[in-house]
Amino acid sequence: MARSRILGLGTFVPSRVVTNHDLTQWMETSDEWIIERTGIRERRWVEHGSGIGSSDLAAEAAKKALEAAELPKEKIDMVVFATLSPDHDFPGTGVFLQRKLGLRPMPVLDIRQQCTGFLYGLSIADQFINTGMVQYVLVIGAEVHSTGLDVTSRGRDVAVLFGDGAGAAVVGPSDDPSRGILSSHLYADGTCAEDLWVEFPSSKHHPRIAHKELEEGRHYPKMEGRKVFKNAVSKMPEVVMEALRFNGYGIKDLGCLIPHQANLRINEFVQKSLGLPDGRVHNNIQRYGNTTAATIPLCLEEAIQVGKIKRDDLVCLVAFGAGFTWGSVLLRW
Ligand code: UT7
Repeated sequence: MARSRILGLGTFVPSRVVTNHDLTQWMETSDEWIIERTGIRERRWVEHGSGIGSSDLAAEAAKKALEAAELPKEKIDMVVFATLSPDHDFPGTGVFLQRKLGLRPMPVLDIRQQCTGFLYGLSIADQFINTGMVQYVLVIGAEVHSTGLDVTSRGRDVAVLFGDGAGAAVVGPSDDPSRGILSSHLYADGTCAEDLWVEFPSSKHHPRIAHKELEEGRHYPKMEGRKVFKNAVSKMPEVVMEALRFNGYGIKDLGCLIPHQANLRINEFVQKSLGLPDGRVHNNIQRYGNTTAATIPLCLEEAIQVGKIKRDDLVCLVAFGAGFTWGSVLLRW
């Protein structure tokens, strides 16, 4: 059976470090609260006013992924770009990235699955490669959250969580049928769509946003934090087990779990309910916050660098977030 594999990974974060202490200049919060509730110590934010968007961070990550895969850019056949913080409403951010990288005309897809975006992207790449439609796909998760956060006390429950960053993977045919993406298991349930969302601007209104909504801060992300937390800690272990069982494996076979980085406490719950020791889970939210579509590649690359993932290890990527969307991808590294 044809199988696709991640041939190279690349990541990029802005150089500006924003610590929890820095946030206390703008809102009523504390280093202790943020660390205790989320595990986050610092995050990277772009310099505001610099004009840097998601496509810029993505371009840097993509160049590194191409280098790691030792693949010339001319070989790329398709781009799948996951982001909830696009450069503009339209066209999609993928075409700006395509132009920045100098890629020839090809299918370029923007997808909107938030925290699960990178996993949806990998799954799309896998299907296109396995059917023989294309050979090499660039899958990107990139976000510039910081320009869209309410950094006053009104928005503190959300603003302290998010960071900017990008991760990219070059996905292509595997030369070894035992290695690569084994399966993906994707879900969405729109019954909770408003529990983590940005309401305005909205095409349901004319104008799409007015002074009133701006004053009320309805263009900022809003979240029912506890509800998201509760759903994440139940859905993530469930979909990890589904991926393992689908492939005839159990938790004992799993070499490393790479969970979406939304909250260290969520991931500790997930780890505990799966009965995994620390050496078989990787987290880096402490230094990057929640970079949404970029967390999985950022965390996966680091897990490889620190030696938690080695060739032929069974690796499960798992995510949960806005939509709600959730999913897992099982792969043999
Ligand atoms: O990737 C997208 C998916 N997102 C997630 O998975 C996030 C899931 N949710 C969470 O991570 C948590 O719900 C949060 C970290 C967002 C919040 O933690 P919590 O333990 O659920 O706190 P809470 O919202 O129940 O708030 C507890 C208290 C409140 O004060 P009172 O009402 O008890 O007086 C909040 O006003 O903490 C207050 N609070 C803060 N205090 C200091 C909320 N945000 C802050 C803050 N600093 N930044």
